Amino acid sequence: MTYRNDPYDPKQVALLDQSSLDDAVAAAEKAFAEAGDLDALASIKHLHLGDRAPVSLARREIGALPPHAKSDAGKRVNEARTAISAAFEARQAELRADRERRVLIEETVDVTLPTARRPRGARHPLTTVMERISDLFVGMGYEIAEGPEVELDWYNFDALNIAPDHPARSMMDTFYLAAAGVGNEESGLVLRTHTSPVQARTMLTRKPPIYIACPGRVYRTDELDATHTPVFHQVEGLVVDKGITMAHLKGTIDHFAKAMLGEDVRTRWRPSYFPFTEPSAEFDVWFPQHRDGPRWVEWGGCGMVNPRVLIACGIDPDEYSGFAFGIGIERALQFRHGAADMRDMVEGDVRFARAFGMEV
Ligand code: DAH
Repeated sequence: MTYRNDPYDPKQVALLDQSSLDDAVAAAEKAFAEAGDLDALASIKHLHLGDRAPVSLARREIGALPPHAKSDAGKRVNEARTAISAAFEARQAELRADRERRVLIEETVDVTLPTARRPRGARHPLTTVMERISDLFVGMGYEIAEGPEVELDWYNFDALNIAPDHPARSMMDTFYLAAAGVGNEESGLVLRTHTSPVQARTMLTRKPPIYIACPGRVYRTDELDATHTPVFHQVEGLVVDKGITMAHLKGTIDHFAKAMLGEDVRTRWRPSYFPFTEPSAEFDVWFPQHRDGPRWVEWGGCGMVNPRVLIACGIDPDEYSGFAFGIGIERALQFRHGAADMRDMVEGDVRFARAFGMEV
């Protein structure tokens, strides 16, 4: 250390010697070169550029120099410091580049490797067809309504003008449910045999005008085979408003059939009978891909809501009239896609569902 009052002797101020400064630069360059990674480099930075590094101590000595020597010493110290900084930055850049190269190699993803991912499932085509049907009715201004699958027999039958001794009860092959302490037929509970009870539920809770579509699952005691399944799907429609006629019903069903199966779909209507509609009709679709050759296949039932049903549900038939329909959704899938065997639709084999692709 030199002191202010010492006479200036450049040799005394050892740290300001050019050779000392050169040594400091050389030592720093060597140390930086030997630092193998960025952490090691960072941990030695202070030894060469910190407050107690030789170049920093040398700078402090400048103050003790006589004025004429200061600028030369200052210039040399700065050069040394700049050289050390440059060496530091160069090494840092080198090590960063190294690390990036390594990361690129270590984290490379071979996009050609087979994936370990499990194949995705697919939405069941019955679900997507049902959504498509719902969209269609929503587009016509209908609301979507729902009801329970475990239903009171009053809604499933009585409210729809199907009295207990009505032959339609046995026609419908009903699953009756046992309830605590009561036998099957006395429990008052059934698995709904059609979506029509939603008509009664809606009319009892809402005032006309009513425009609803109700897609859902229904049950009948059928054996599973190519053309029957004990669980299937329907979409029910109900319109109750002032001045509704059979022409509205016909126009609605025709529009539905065309939207689902294309403009050139062929449909025909036949007079029919349902206790809850009067008059009633059934409509068929010409189905060229039928397994036993081209033929008419029934798609649904419909008619003008029977005034007795309106009355049972608290609606004045002198003021309002309505139409209703029930359409088979499995049939819609059959007609749209030629899926011929009912068993394919219930087995849940993903290969069947996947073939329909994703409909969004
Ligand atoms: N519920 C009837 C069935 O499952 C279908 C049906 C026919 C529904 C006529 C209706 C209708 O709404 O008006 O066979």
